[in-house]
Formats: sequence, C-alpha cells, structure tokens
Amino acid sequence: QLMPFVSDGRKMIHRAFEGNYAMPAFNIGSLVMARACIEAAEAEQAPIILQTSPGELTQTTPDVFSAMIRALANKADVPIMLHLDHGDGLDRIAACINAGYSSVMFDGDSLTLEENVTATQNYAEWAHALGVSLEAAAGSFGGGEEGADSGVHLTNPDVARRLLKDGCADMVACSVGSVHGQTSKLDLGRLEAIAKLAEGPLVLHGGTGIPASDLAVATTLGVVKINIGAGLARPIVKRWQDATENVASPHKGVFGTTDRVLADLIEVARHKIRIMNGSGQA
Ligand code: 13P
Repeated sequence: QLMPFVSDGRKMIHRAFEGNYAMPAFNIGSLVMARACIEAAEAEQAPIILQTSPGELTQTTPDVFSAMIRALANKADVPIMLHLDHGDGLDRIAACINAGYSSVMFDGDSLTLEENVTATQNYAEWAHALGVSLEAAAGSFGGGEEGADSGVHLTNPDVARRLLKDGCADMVACSVGSVHGQTSKLDLGRLEAIAKLAEGPLVLHGGTGIPASDLAVATTLGVVKINIGAGLARPIVKRWQDATENVASPHKGVFGTTDRVLADLIEVARHKIRIMNGSGQA
C-alpha cells in the first residue's frame, strides 16, 4: 500500500508499467489546478502525477509547490507524486530534489547522444541516492504554449534504449507524433519499435491533443506517464473570459468563478484518467 504522497516515484512507475496503464501527469500552476486533479484522482481511484515545468515555476518556488501538494495529498486516499517537468539544468533539478519532489526530468535532448547518456547517468545516480526517480528525453516535441518551440525531433528507438539501460533513467520521454499544445496522431509503429527495443517505461508529452484511441494502444506499449498541460489551462482562460460574476462583490465573483473552474477541471482530469486506463488502479 502506497502512502498518498509518494516520495519515491520509482514504485509508481513500476506499478504502471506492470499494470498496462498510464498516469496522467498534470501541469499545475495553482491551488485550484492541484485540487481539481486530486479530487478527480480520488473520484476515479487512480494514481496520478502532478508536475511543474519551468513555466509553472514562474508562479512560485519548488518548496511552496512541494508543501502545497504534500498537504493536499496527505488528505487524499490515492497515491500522488510530484515531478519536475522539463528540468533544464543543475540549479532547477537541485531545487526540486531539495524541496522533496518525487521525481525529476532531465531534458538533455539538445545534447549529443553520448553527452545526453552521460548527463542522464549522473542525474540518475544523484536522484536514486536520494530516493527520487528520473525521466530522460529521447527526442523533442515542438509546439509549446509559451512560444519556446524547440522543433520536432522524433525518437530513435536505440536512443530510448540507451537512456534507460546506460543512462539508468526510470522512464524516457519519446516523441512519436504528439506536439505540445496541438492536436496530433501518434506514429504507433514507431512507438511499438521503441517499446520492443527499450523494454522499459515510456513517457509521452503533448498529451492533451492525442486521440483517446491512440492512448489506449500506448498504454499497452509501456507508456506509463502522459503529460497534460493545455487541457487544464484552456478551460481556465475560457471561464475567466466568460466570467459574469457580480463585480459589486469582488470576493463572491472570484470565489464563484474559481468554483466553476474547479468543476471544469475535475471533469477534464477524470476523462484523461479514464482514457489512460487509470481508473481503479490506486
Ligand atoms: P499539452 O499542453 O499538449 O498537454 O502538453 C503538455 C506537456 O507535454 C508538458 O510537458
């Protein structure tokens, strides 16, 4: 039985890999986003990942996110892990490990293969010594809501294998057609080739726009983590644009719109959990 706040991500990754389901990794930048995902996870009795990318980390520091998620998770009855998405260097990764994150990503895709493998191995050794899991990157996804388009670089199956076997990563992000913030279609043939060669846990980014039918196949091919960003951010923007609350009572206005956002996000998160075969897996 896992505790609600899972301090070491490796156990949850292993369970998902063995169980042929994926955990949604929701990008959360605020209390209401975190609450909605946790309420959805409880309603579906599903293990989930909450994650902060450098974008979300403009909102507050890793220690504040960590304290908030621990406090919420410890009142929940499902396992929840906290992950650093797109860890972009030593300072960021250290700050999140020191703040008690369950898991971190080292995104070394812009490096040469040998540099990526060596750096991933160094980060993995460090993370594992402290009981933290590591996601590596074998490709890039392009897109992005923040204008930082790194371009699409599809995953070579052998690179995924090297990052798992030689880099000692616990899971590896694979680019097989999904794009940050855009509707996509997966190259399931490439994903199958990666799964066969890599024989380890895989991660997909750009999860919002991947069709449910592709996700159903992906969960049978070793995909354990699927990132969901825009799918939560868009309904929030829409609610606030449409807000018709009574401006004579600003407090009621804020709380009313926030409650509507919460309800919208719970629906989105429950749907994502279900299409990843996560319901009942807690
Ligand atoms: P989406 O915004 O397309 O869901 O992608 C999120 C993501 O992959 C974050 O790393």
